Amino acid sequence: MAHAVADHTVTDADLPFGVDIDLVTGAMAAPDRVLVRRASDMKGYYKDAAALDRLIAAGDPVHYEVFEKVIPETYGHLLFCISKLYPGRVGDECFMTKGHYHTVSGTAETYLCIAGTGYMMCKLSDGSCRAEPMRRNRMVYVPPHWGHRSINTGFDPLISFCVYPAEAGHNYGDIAVEGFPKRVFIRGGREVIE
Ligand code: F6R
Ligand code: ZN
Repeated sequence: MAHAVADHTVTDADLPFGVDIDLVTGAMAAPDRVLVRRASDMKGYYKDAAALDRLIAAGDPVHYEVFEKVIPETYGHLLFCISKLYPGRVGDECFMTKGHYHTVSGTAETYLCIAGTGYMMCKLSDGSCRAEPMRRNRMVYVPPHWGHRSINTGFDPLISFCVYPAEAGHNYGDIAVEGFPKRVFIRGGREVIE
């Protein structure tokens, strides 16, 4: 059923709905989409390419998963998801997501970290870089124009509840070419950001 409200037409996709999300485990009930990225999806992202190849040969573990509901990707809607980044190292570099800019660059995002420890590495195209700590119950705000990737420095999954404008889109290509100015390593039991 469609009916007009103000200046746009509301369809069934606009009906209110609820989703059960366990904010301890990050489990989303009945997600519409689950994105799974394995080590083999991460070629070119880590400093030590040989270490990544060894990890792929040793079983190609899951790196991260994203659980989502399908929502129209148009202005006015909000997308939300659970992002779950597993712990691990590629050589001595901490597991991380690919990272992206939003295609509609002027769109922000909030990440409410519900478990784990790590960083939200943020960068502007001019090379500015900020590593914002992530830990349980801390919300990280990624302003418009900042590329962003999660990095897991701990031994448990780094889990966040993310919300962003539905029209944002994801630009992986520019980040894949540019990289981030800083990476996070664990050396001798200590975090090294360089
Ligand atoms: C959405 C967003 C997160 C990430 C997710 C996976 O805009 O920032 O949901 O998409 O953490 O990371 P990427 O997208 O870098 O593979
Ligand atoms: Zn994003």
